[in-house]
Order: sequence, then C-alpha cells, then structure tokens
Amino acid sequence: MRKKMVAGNWKMNMTPSQAVKLAKELKPKVDTNEVDVVFCVPAIDIVPVVNELKDSGIKVGAENMFYEEKGAYTGELSPEMLIDAGVTYVIIGHSERRQYFHETDEVINKKMRKAIEHKLLPILCCGESLEQREKGVTIEFIKKQIASAFKYIPPENVINCVIAYEPIWAIGTGRVATAEQAQEVCEAIRGSIRDIYGAVVAERIRILYGGSVNAANASQIFSMPDIDGGLVGGASLKPEFADIVNYNKK
Ligand code: PGA
Repeated sequence: MRKKMVAGNWKMNMTPSQAVKLAKELKPKVDTNEVDVVFCVPAIDIVPVVNELKDSGIKVGAENMFYEEKGAYTGELSPEMLIDAGVTYVIIGHSERRQYFHETDEVINKKMRKAIEHKLLPILCCGESLEQREKGVTIEFIKKQIASAFKYIPPENVINCVIAYEPIWAIGTGRVATAEQAQEVCEAIRGSIRDIYGAVVAERIRILYGGSVNAANASQIFSMPDIDGGLVGGASLKPEFADIVNYNKK
C-alpha cells in the first residue's frame, strides 16, 4: 500500500514572516501519521519554515533547484544548499517553470539526476496543455515527458520519487480534471514507469494529481486507484489545506 501524500506548492507567495505564521497555523491541523505532508515554499522561506516545523512530521520542499554543484550561477540554489537548510523534497519541472523560465525536458532531466545524487526527493511535474488534450495527444505527450525526465536514473532511485500529474488547463483555473480524467492519465504514468522499471517500482512510486484541488474535490480524486494524493497550489495557502490533508476524516 502506498501512503498518501499531500504537498502544498506555495509558489511566489508568503514573505518569511507570513510563511512562519501560516506554518504555525497549519501545523497542528495537518501533522498526521496517515498522510505524508509537505510544504513546498519559496527559497527565502525555507529556513524559517523548517525551524517552525522542526518538532513535527511535516516535511519542507523547495520549488526549484539548479543542476550544478556550485559556482558562478547568479541567483540559483544548489542541492547542497537545500539539504543543509533542511529540505527533503524538491519540485522539478513545474509547468510554470517550463513556460515562464523555458525549462526544457533536458534541463529537467539534469535537475532530476542532480537532486537524486544528493538524496533530495524530486516531485516531478508533468501535464498537457488544453490544446494537446483537445487534439487527443495527452497520453502520448506525458509518456514522453516521463521517459525524458527519468533518463539515466536507475530503478533503486525511482521508488522514492514522486510524480505529479498537473494538466496545465487545470492549474489555478478552478477547472479541475474529473476524477476519471485524472485517473486515466495517472494510470498511464504508472504504466510508463512499469515499462521502464518493472512492476515493483511502478507499484511503489507515488503519483499525485494537481490542478485546482480543494476541500470539496480532494476525497473523490484521492480515492482513485492510481492517485496517491495531491499537489495543491492556491488552497495550500488557506486553512482549507487542513481539510484536504484530512480528506478521509469527514
Ligand atoms: P492550483 O495549483 O492548485 O492552484 O491549481 C497547483 C499547482 O500548480 O501545483
């Protein structure tokens, strides 16, 4: 049985003082053994949020990372910096990074390999545009994204990775995929992992859905057989996040 995971993606929200306040408010409501909870926070919030959450089971994630060890890369953060700051997970290849910062599949693969080399756990994002969905090429496109992201990564390192299926048309739009649409793609993603790495790895890797997840739709989406939880943007900044984490306690 795969343990469910609910990860918040705070994006470019919350100053350090606001971040500490939010972490403090959410902590008692989301610190549970039943679900793995992760707050993926802006880089400048990592240290104070790690400090605020240190006596809890909640893990902190970064929203991005560079693929070089160190050196003349003004503005970037290395895996070693993230590890030393107390980060456990790192989001890689979010569609906003692909779109606004021109991250290619090749860059994303380099980031995946570097994160894994440093024992950071990647939350790899994939997802199709509305145009691709309408053309009927969703599954084919996502299989390509997966194959490319995991290139050169050996099976023993894949088990602890997390994949987030986030259809671009559902991110921040309030237009959520139906549970069946999300399941269909998450099942195909697990199939891709099975083709590359075999059944054992495919059964263990966690696949999340992301895109307008909220307290009202979480339990239906998370009950699908190949969906192991959610990557939550907008609703992760609100008290509602606690209801998403506790989706099965109603
Ligand atoms: P959303 O964002 O929940 O606000 O749609 C999800 C994400 O981008 O991870």
